[in-house]
Amino acid sequence: MNPSRHNDQTAVPDTRALPPPSAEEQAHSERLACRVREEVAQAGGAIPFSRFMELALYAPGFGYYAAGQHKFGAGGDFVTAPELGPLFARCLARQCRQILEALTGGDILEAGAGSGALAADLLIELESLGYLPLRYAILELSAELRARQAETIKLRAPHLLPRVHWLDAPPASFRGIVLANELLDAMPAVRFRVAPDGIREIYVTWENDRFSWLEKPAEQPVQDRVVPLALVPGYTSEINWHAEAWVRSIADTLQQGVLLLIDYGFPRTEFYHPQRLDGTLMCHYRHRAHADPLILVGLQDITAHVDFTAIAAAGTAAGLRLLGYTSQAAFLIGCGLDQLAAQSDPENTRAHLELTQQIKKLTLPHEMGELYKVIAFGRGVEEPLLGFAVRDRRGRL
Ligand SMILES: C[S@@+](CC[C@H](N)C(=O)[O-])C[C@H]1O[C@@H](n2cnc3c(N)ncnc32)[C@H](O)[C@@H]1O
Repeated sequence: MNPSRHNDQTAVPDTRALPPPSAEEQAHSERLACRVREEVAQAGGAIPFSRFMELALYAPGFGYYAAGQHKFGAGGDFVTAPELGPLFARCLARQCRQILEALTGGDILEAGAGSGALAADLLIELESLGYLPLRYAILELSAELRARQAETIKLRAPHLLPRVHWLDAPPASFRGIVLANELLDAMPAVRFRVAPDGIREIYVTWENDRFSWLEKPAEQPVQDRVVPLALVPGYTSEINWHAEAWVRSIADTLQQGVLLLIDYGFPRTEFYHPQRLDGTLMCHYRHRAHADPLILVGLQDITAHVDFTAIAAAGTAAGLRLLGYTSQAAFLIGCGLDQLAAQSDPENTRAHLELTQQIKKLTLPHEMGELYKVIAFGRGVEEPLLGFAVRDRRGRL
């Protein structure tokens, strides 16, 4: 089984042990590095790490998500829940059905749809449940991924493709379900370090023919977030303002319905745990995880875990009601994972084995079951959501 995006069992302590990129990949990376270096020079010698991460992942035509890297699945760099098989989408479909029923209609908007696997499997399952939404919108930054998503849906459910359309920005107004799997962790994060004499924001500069770190005194908003955390000198971590702003912008468009976010992360007390001295930044390259985002520019994924306390605060401050927060395992069980598993025929050895593997990967505590969380917000939806019936941990946020 391939490692997922968070999985540090595959950690590479020495980045020299990473597989070397091909000459073509190397040339691609050089072109992006050149683009980043220009921006570093224009900025007077350094750019905030969040801007470096944004360029490395999303620079048009060059960034990791914007260019042709394989990214998802066995031939790529990491595996996400929808890539394991259709079980994740089948469970999610049961949660969607409950919401669409309560709303007596509504559309679905998926943000950051990756390969399109979730969109295809969710539509297929909703069709079989008799709850197909009229429209399935995909909000996706990457033109390359949009094309790939259309291909996936065309291949797996061609008759459902006419319901799908792509958006460049959140719609002005939306009624239905907004969902995103592993979107927030892919948003550019601010990096900071606590120095003995104050908080520093971490920047990226270019020296001795390579990108390297540079620190500057942190601006007031960073100070205001970090000082109350009372972290020890040397402590380095992240703040994800982009993710918080994104939740606010979606909240503004959600006229009625539910925002459902699935990602890896913790409540704030665990996110800034005293032992998490180096923060949560993680890079993925060909199923190896390591912690140096300044190498393999544009060829590797860069992520930071999600501070769910910050996300909860962003959603509620924007007028949404927090409907639930729980682990992925508890959510999927609440959505009916057990019943779906019970339908599997052990005589059909291959299908049964595949399903068992998906269940293990999605729910075991040392796999995706505990680290991955689900948070839901609502507007004009009063009904308790299925996914939080087994266990709701809102009190921990
Ligand atoms: C880690 S991938 C997850 C893909 C998919 N949801 C999955 O679970 O396999 C992150 C996705 O979010 C997209 N993305 C990142 N920032 C975005 C934004 N602000 N709006 C829309 N999509 C975004 C990326 O292009 C990519 O498709």
